[in-house]
Amino acid sequence: MRFENNLMRAFDPDIIPYHEIHRLLVGGVAPRPIALVSSMDKNGASNLSPFSFFNVFGVNPAVLCFSPAYSGKTGQPKHTMLNILETRECTVSIVTYEMVHQISLASAPYERGVDEFTKSGLTKRPSVKVAPPGVAESPFVLEARLLHHIDFGKTHGSANLMICEVVMLHVSEAVLTEQGGVDPLLIDQVARLGGPYYTRAKRGIFALPQPGKPLAGIDRLPEEIRSSPILTGKHLAQLASLEEIPEVPNDLSNDEVRHIAAREHLEQGDVEGAWRALGTS
Ligand SMILES: Cc1cc2nc3c(=O)[nH]c(=O)nc-3n(C[C@H](O)[C@H](O)[C@H](O)COP(=O)(O)O)c2cc1C
Repeated sequence: MRFENNLMRAFDPDIIPYHEIHRLLVGGVAPRPIALVSSMDKNGASNLSPFSFFNVFGVNPAVLCFSPAYSGKTGQPKHTMLNILETRECTVSIVTYEMVHQISLASAPYERGVDEFTKSGLTKRPSVKVAPPGVAESPFVLEARLLHHIDFGKTHGSANLMICEVVMLHVSEAVLTEQGGVDPLLIDQVARLGGPYYTRAKRGIFALPQPGKPLAGIDRLPEEIRSSPILTGKHLAQLASLEEIPEVPNDLSNDEVRHIAAREHLEQGDVEGAWRALGTS
């Protein structure tokens, strides 16, 4: 499906109720990774809750940020935030498919002081530099300390940003690659979409080469190819992701047949075959 000519509807957050904006934002800005945040209050009582307004930013220092909002229903702050403001420490465990039902259970609105490790059946693993434990079932756990807290309004649905420095990473040997990365099939993360929806990352994985150099770009393709009604922007980007665009003789006929043949190759990921179908020798 192509959306270029679709009628777009505009939603102005100054006019639309915040719960409708929430529904649109979580549906559109997705999938989001899930931080399973473990924190403790000043007396050492443990808390575990998932947050999908979450990501990491930069590596020097490594920073993570997640957002416990004031409840849209009650306007109350999340216990996770209150705990971290008291102790300035947390851990973030990445959520796998095996864990997803348990983290959903941990997200239920329990009273402050209830330990969601106990409710969800997830297991504590002691941390090295911070007091809150990680989650033993997760293959990827970060220990973190609060750097900045930004509060956007103290009212229903308004966000807090908990910006934390990552002070220790724990990665299971079972998901580490020989090159020192994380195997995307073995780690088996889940991510959050809008409403009740989740996605299992490994079911949708595909790879694209990472452009390390400036590549030719669509503007350098011959006009006959660039204006093809058969080749979409995706196909053109595949053809244009080369350092040099191959020479295509300009006396070729049968554009439609050549373009359809090229499209077949491109749909299989065969860029060389596509250029041959377009007429390069
Ligand atoms: C997958 C998932 C993602 C969530 N993401 C967020 C989020 O980003 N921000 C938020 O305020 N609540 C989020 N929630 C809801 C909280 O987990 C829920 O309000 C929880 O009860 C908070 O616990 P606490 O008050 O013990 O910190 C999410 C729930 C689930 C299941």
